[in-house]
Amino acid sequence: MAKTIRSALVFTGRVINDTVSFVVFSLLDLLDLFLCLAYRVADFFIEAEWKACYCSPSKEAITNSGKILVSEHGESKIVCLSSTKLRLEEISDTLYRRPSLLTEVSKLTVNELKRLKLDGLTNANNTNTNINVINSSHHEKNVIKKGSSVRSTFMVNSTIVEMLQGKIGGQQSHIPIPRWSDCDCKFCTCWTSSSKETLFVKAEGPRDSAREDVLFIHGFISSSAFWTETVFPNLSSAAKTTYRLFAIDLLGFGRSPKPTDSLYTLREHLDMIERTVLEPHKVKSFHIVAHSLGCILALALAVKHPGSVRSLTLLAPPYFPVPKGEQATQYVMRRVAPRRVWPPIAFGASLACWYEHISRTICLVICKNHRLVEFLVKLITRNRLRTFLLEGFFCHTHNAAWHTLHNIICGTAAKLDAYLTVVRDRLSCDVHIFHGEDDELIPVECSHNVKAKIPRARVKIIEKKDHITIVVGRQKTFARELEEIWRNSSTRT
Ligand SMILES: *[C@@H]1O[C@H](CO)[C@@H](O)[C@H](O)[C@H]1NC(C)=O
Ligand SMILES: *[C@@H]1O[C@H](CO)[C@@H](O)[C@H](O)[C@H]1NC(C)=O
Ligand SMILES: *[C@@H]1O[C@H](CO)[C@@H](O)[C@H](O)[C@H]1NC(C)=O
Ligand SMILES: *[C@@H]1O[C@H](CO)[C@@H](O)[C@H](O)[C@H]1NC(C)=O
Ligand SMILES: *[C@@H]1O[C@H](CO)[C@@H](O)[C@H](O)[C@H]1NC(C)=O
Repeated sequence: MAKTIRSALVFTGRVINDTVSFVVFSLLDLLDLFLCLAYRVADFFIEAEWKACYCSPSKEAITNSGKILVSEHGESKIVCLSSTKLRLEEISDTLYRRPSLLTEVSKLTVNELKRLKLDGLTNANNTNTNINVINSSHHEKNVIKKGSSVRSTFMVNSTIVEMLQGKIGGQQSHIPIPRWSDCDCKFCTCWTSSSKETLFVKAEGPRDSAREDVLFIHGFISSSAFWTETVFPNLSSAAKTTYRLFAIDLLGFGRSPKPTDSLYTLREHLDMIERTVLEPHKVKSFHIVAHSLGCILALALAVKHPGSVRSLTLLAPPYFPVPKGEQATQYVMRRVAPRRVWPPIAFGASLACWYEHISRTICLVICKNHRLVEFLVKLITRNRLRTFLLEGFFCHTHNAAWHTLHNIICGTAAKLDAYLTVVRDRLSCDVHIFHGEDDELIPVECSHNVKAKIPRARVKIIEKKDHITIVVGRQKTFARELEEIWRNSSTRT
């Protein structure tokens, strides 16, 4: 009896959630459309320039901003020109294609009309399409096989680059001027004073006598403080003399550069990590500890440097195996951002992922006024919240968050399988996975999925911990666990 009542309650709850979500998100669709217009006008008056956004049909948006989009077989690339290089930047198609109710309905109608019109004509061309599909599937397999190399750069004769630049509209300059809707306080723009184009990195440990290096990569909308304020102080003094610790702020977050014209692609994030940590500090072999979105960067980095990784520790890795026939980017977007109002963290992720202009507005209210917001939060919570989390949460630009979320989480969806296969077959390091049982953002099944791909991975599900408290609040235990992992890896080899 109690069981039936319970399942009835669960069912009712789900129906209510679905209904409310549907209504709320339909309204938000409209609101985002309205905000799109509002920002166009505001940008024009404040920055004296029409700025393209991803609402306009993709081709128009790209040519407006002086870039060329190449889209093929579900992969989207932007052609970028620097002074001597022609480069293809991979971007996620979820940036400009998110089928909402409105677009679905209109597309459905258009398709119906097309179908009616073309009925009877299609037979002759069907064979053609089939052949193309076979060819393209071949092509995609090749791409995935080569997926371990993240780079697609061509060196081009400089005369040709100049010609192209004339055509495309010139090189984008890296002028560190924040946009009007971003914060321009000292903390948020401290990167502009140092001319070096490197990330902010907090390094601890002995300079010369260190035997091993550890790289810490934080998750989405966070910062190096996620580690330096928790795990770092709790490591034993023995560990502090043995290991050199590097905690970075990712490109666009914390105190790292936040270029306004960057697309925050996987390549850009990886390049910056290499340029900041691996190259100047001559790091040859290292341990990686990564949280959430950082796990994707960690895997890509491990695949790029297969001989250098000594251990891989992943916390809440967002790995969703894509069912056959689904488009990877779109599938993962719907898993991470399900357009539901409950639980709150899913609602937040849905807002951040689906609405370019609403998330810009949230950023405008919170990030631009972060001093005031921090003060209010401290006042309301009577200082019980650890403020280092707030700092990470407030100090980013909308451009960085928007592109990183789409290009890293959704854009890499089709590659993760290949990455995990490389880690399984070509790397010999230990793989450890931690996941909070109550994680409402990345379900525990993600970690089990990684384990299914990499049988030697050790999965530890922590009871009564969620996406954040997997580290924050259990830092002492986690520091011990990390030390054991690092120690084991050196005794093993
Ligand atoms: C079929 O192919 C022919 C020639 O390639 C083309 O002219 C025609 O428009 C196509 N029909 C459809 C329905 O795509
Ligand atoms: C693949 O495409 C090429 C042209 O690019 C064509 O010559 C070839 O017949 C196609 N192969 C298959 C299996 O359809
Ligand atoms: C680039 O191409 C132009 C024209 O094809 C040629 O005259 C020039 O020598 C080339 N430059 C270099 C550096 O190869
Ligand atoms: C270690 O972590 C605990 C919480 O788990 C914290 O209270 C303490 O301040 C940390 N230790 C140091 C030395 O900071
Ligand atoms: C470390 O090695 C010991 C002994 O081989 C083993 O019992 C322990 O489970 C290992 N710990 C981790 C975290 O791998």
